[in-house]
Amino acid sequence: MSLLAIGFSLLAAVEAAAVVPIQTTGGCSNLPLYDSKTGIAGPWTITVDQCQNTTATDNACSMEGFGNRAVYFLQQGDTGIEKGYIGIVDRIDRAKNPLRCNDATDSFEANVPSGVSGYEWKSVNISDYPYSAVLMWGLGEYSLPIQTYHHYQDGVKQDGIFLGSHNVTTWGIQQQSGSAGSSGNPYWLLRLLGPNSENPSNGEPLSDGEYRTFIRIDRS
Ligand SMILES: *[C@@H]1O[C@H](CO)[C@@H](O)[C@H](O)[C@H]1NC(C)=O
Ligand SMILES: *[C@@H]1O[C@H](CO)[C@@H](O)[C@H](O)[C@H]1NC(C)=O
Ligand SMILES: *[C@@H]1O[C@H](CO)[C@@H](O)[C@H](O)[C@H]1NC(C)=O
Repeated sequence: MSLLAIGFSLLAAVEAAAVVPIQTTGGCSNLPLYDSKTGIAGPWTITVDQCQNTTATDNACSMEGFGNRAVYFLQQGDTGIEKGYIGIVDRIDRAKNPLRCNDATDSFEANVPSGVSGYEWKSVNISDYPYSAVLMWGLGEYSLPIQTYHHYQDGVKQDGIFLGSHNVTTWGIQQQSGSAGSSGNPYWLLRLLGPNSENPSNGEPLSDGEYRTFIRIDRS
């Protein structure tokens, strides 16, 4: 390992240690816009927060503050749309798909296109592949639950509620080209950067054009 590489990995360790995620308690009840009659918190969108563009002099990402959208897979046959990604829009003015927390299903749900036509609230989870832990709906039993966290820095609670799982709230965000499921528009795909999330072919923590970010709940 070169001195430069050691320098970078020390820097990464210092940055990672700076924020401590502490999981929120009480199911949906401690999340914004909770209604105790329905057991539902929301709707909100999620937004890109503190994205780090390490190649820009000011570290700024062009999609900082952008919200989520649903990008679906087209299915064969007549059962229609069954699964898809919760990604981030490529332009801040595009329509968002609302998200909520539902105590009855003990999960996060997104209002997404479903079946042949129409929209439904579907559970959103994180796919259970360490290097491809993507935010999705329509996953089977092999998935990680979304959990919500407060961030503490030097013991001080930071503003906002952040999405993650298993005490990790750092996500990789990478632009994807448009497809039929995204109405032809590019979008930003999110994957959780947990243990063993390095690229299996080269061991790199991030892929080309991928950035580190947090994602935060925003009131819509
Ligand atoms: C990151 O910074 C580089 C260099 O300034 C720029 O070319 C690139 O578009 C930026 N990416 C984002 C997502 O802001
Ligand atoms: C999503 O995760 C929840 C736990 O939060 C689990 O109960 C549920 O079965 C998962 N759903 C899917 C579709 O993977
Ligand atoms: C998350 O961190 C808490 C302490 O803050 C710890 O008690 C818990 O075991 C951790 N969970 C996981 C899955 O690492």
